[in-house]
Amino acid sequence: MADSAKLTYQDKTVELPVVVGSENEVGVDVSKLRAQTGIITLDDGYGNTGSCLSGITYIDGEKGILRYRGYPIEQLAEKSSFVEVSYLLIFGELPNADQLQEFREHLTQHQFIHESMRHHFEGFPPTAHPMAILSAMINAASCFQPQLMKFEDDASFADSVARLMSKVRTISAASYKQSIGQAIMYPRFDLRYTSNFLYMMYGRPNLDYEPDEDVVRALDQILILHADHEQNCSTSTVRMVGSSQANLWASVAAGVCALWGPLHGGANQAVIEMLTEISASGESCESFVRRVKDDPDTRLMGFGHRVYKSFDPRAKILKAACDKVLDKLGVQDPLLDIAIKLEETALKDEYFVARNLYPNVDFYSGIIMRAIGIPLNMFTVLFAIGRIPGWIANWREVHLNPKARIYRPRQIYTGETARDYVPVQQRQG
Ligand code: SDX
Repeated sequence: MADSAKLTYQDKTVELPVVVGSENEVGVDVSKLRAQTGIITLDDGYGNTGSCLSGITYIDGEKGILRYRGYPIEQLAEKSSFVEVSYLLIFGELPNADQLQEFREHLTQHQFIHESMRHHFEGFPPTAHPMAILSAMINAASCFQPQLMKFEDDASFADSVARLMSKVRTISAASYKQSIGQAIMYPRFDLRYTSNFLYMMYGRPNLDYEPDEDVVRALDQILILHADHEQNCSTSTVRMVGSSQANLWASVAAGVCALWGPLHGGANQAVIEMLTEISASGESCESFVRRVKDDPDTRLMGFGHRVYKSFDPRAKILKAACDKVLDKLGVQDPLLDIAIKLEETALKDEYFVARNLYPNVDFYSGIIMRAIGIPLNMFTVLFAIGRIPGWIANWREVHLNPKARIYRPRQIYTGETARDYVPVQQRQG
């Protein structure tokens, strides 16, 4: 007999089926609760609510475990590449040599954006945030290939995957070039994914530019670490939009907007702004931590997580990479010293310990992006480029689910009860 849970409300008790996942996570299936009892569950922020069954990414927040399709993030970060990890997340298995080569060629084949799109960038003010441009241009790109709006088969899905993954790089680099008044660079056919992005960011028409291998490796690892993270805010947004059978490009464009928030992907930019402010003011880390504890509007950005109640494994990898990358590049960054001191101070403080607040992926990623020359307002764009394969994999999981239903949560209404219309002449005040 499958396990079940009992729920009693007033004089009624119902038995609810229990679902156990492959890592022994247990969920009470309440999909029939309202029909059986007339009541619903309420869970502000969905901290206790599973929205789906998913086979893509597993997180154990207590043990600091993160696996993509069963592979530990530590092994993928050390041994794999962003393109290979993207294939793994989207298609479910590590590619063999031929599959990997074919995927790479597909990405190279689709790296250009339609020539007419180049003029769209001129329509944005130079001060436009690149996340606004990225979201808008992802939808714009799909308008040039209407066949991307639907997938009849695996081949057309794979085609759209390569186009989306490849073009977000070109769009992002072009938005940066436009913002600094430099010529937009065409991608090269002889460079791989991450190298080509760096070339489009820093290359100049009249200048030979070859991306530094250490920089390429550091950025590729950052993209791997950001590639997926189960049902986070932006991925849930992509699934929500995809559940209405909106196309992949519209769903991912919505994910970009959700990621932009400073509580989510925008935190990497907010961390550097916080560290820069501390550095400029000369405030001690102890004093800043006191302010965080005393002022509910001051947060230690890059700390805390809804799921990780111990170290975010990605933060551990990035912290180790900081030393290595800055050393290799001969970069001294006072913000790294402040970050390390802040971490030490916070992890000894009861306020953070009692709330299980540890560094998350955003706490150290910005230090490395600064060291490799990524401009501050592009940090969250890099997060988005990294997260594209995870969003695609989750959108596909919704799309392929034969029992998929449109996401439509309920609510508990707390507004005015019924009342009659009052003509304007009779209204008070
Ligand atoms: C990402 O979900 C994902 O997987 C996201 C992500 C991914 O890969 O997709 O991992 C990427 O978004 C990482 C998180 C980046 N955001 C930040 O670094 C912003 C700072 N952190 C927080 O705002 C916060 O920790 C969240 C948003 C990350 C989590 O928020 P929760 O789970 O809603 O926690 P909460 O706000 O309810 O906080 C619980 C307590 C509160 O104190 P009390 O009311 O109990 O007194 O902890 C406090 C909060 O005030 N708290 C913090 C804090 N984070 C939580 N206090 C100071 N500084 C912080 N950073």
